[in-house]
Amino acid sequence: MSILLDVKDLHVQFSNRLGEVRAVSGVNFQLKEGEILGIVGESGCGKSTLAKALVHLLPSHSAKMQGEILFQGLDLLKCKEEELLSIRGKEIGFIFQDPMTSLNPTMKIGEQIIEGYLKHHPHISKKEALAYAAELLTTVGISQPSERLFEYPHTMSGGMRQKVTIALALASRPKILIADEPTTALDATIQAQILSFISSLQKLQNTSIILITHDLSVVAGFCDRVIVMYAGQIVEVAPVEELFYDPKHPYTQRLLKTIPRIDLPKDTVLSPIEGSPPLLHMPWKGCAFAPRCLDALPHCKTAEPPLYTMKNECSSRCWLREKESS
Ligand SMILES: Nc1ncnc2c1ncn2[C@@H]1O[C@H](COP(=O)(O)OP(=O)(O)OP(=O)(O)O)[C@@H](O)[C@H]1O
Ligand SMILES: [Mg+2]
Repeated sequence: MSILLDVKDLHVQFSNRLGEVRAVSGVNFQLKEGEILGIVGESGCGKSTLAKALVHLLPSHSAKMQGEILFQGLDLLKCKEEELLSIRGKEIGFIFQDPMTSLNPTMKIGEQIIEGYLKHHPHISKKEALAYAAELLTTVGISQPSERLFEYPHTMSGGMRQKVTIALALASRPKILIADEPTTALDATIQAQILSFISSLQKLQNTSIILITHDLSVVAGFCDRVIVMYAGQIVEVAPVEELFYDPKHPYTQRLLKTIPRIDLPKDTVLSPIEGSPPLLHMPWKGCAFAPRCLDALPHCKTAEPPLYTMKNECSSRCWLREKESS
């Protein structure tokens, strides 16, 4: 599988009244063609910031970015605004958690879907574009699509709106789809429909997908590989089976113990992770997880571990893995 996106040493800092918030610190990863890459981690660990940085959707007045984001060899952090406009929405589509932030409440659904599509395909007529938009609505599971095209977002349910944002993101058949918590606010049935639709895209169109979620069962069911983030850093990368059967970082091990499992006795006690992540605007020493880690050694609190590369495409940012690293 070839590499579609290569992120190198990406840093994102926000300046606010608290100081400099290091939301993403030295993130490196690659997205392969046709893979579904999951990103998990506690609230505030930098998942959405990373997703928005990839498509330059961060507020330019407060966010400082450094590093490289290579999309098919082109560095998105250095390219011109016109180049970026031809990639964002066309080659890289995105779906965010709250559909109302992606939909314009004053525009009819059909117009919103065709707006970007016509920009990227100026030779197509409005009538043809609307027919295509109706087709997309059918694909994402919206009934009576020809009528829905002329409705405003507020007339639809949350699940329908999220399906519309997916249709919007898919209109240009992007090579990469970034989905940030696409189903968190939805009920289980709609969640299952949307996730199985997203995963069918990978099979039908070989779309590469970055799926950000809090839900480890979603990761287990849909992802090929998983990145675990903690305090703005990647702490573990692993193929999905490795992550669940042999997690390599104490944070991932603890995270897995916080979810109920059907294969364990009903009276198994779930164990939450005590404490909280470091404040991202305050400097800390050593491993960011050390204060909460039950396996921490004295030097974990003073020296920051590197992200060790191990066998089976796994990596772990933990001193305990030093001997297994390649
Ligand atoms: N526009 C902004 N200005 C200042 N700080 C920000 C901004 N956006 C995010 N942050 C900070 O960056 C850090 C990472 O936030 P981010 O939204 O990326 O976390 P997340 O992992 O997506 O969390 P969640 O799971 O709750 O969505 C947090 O400390 C947050 O307060
Ligand atoms: Mg988020």
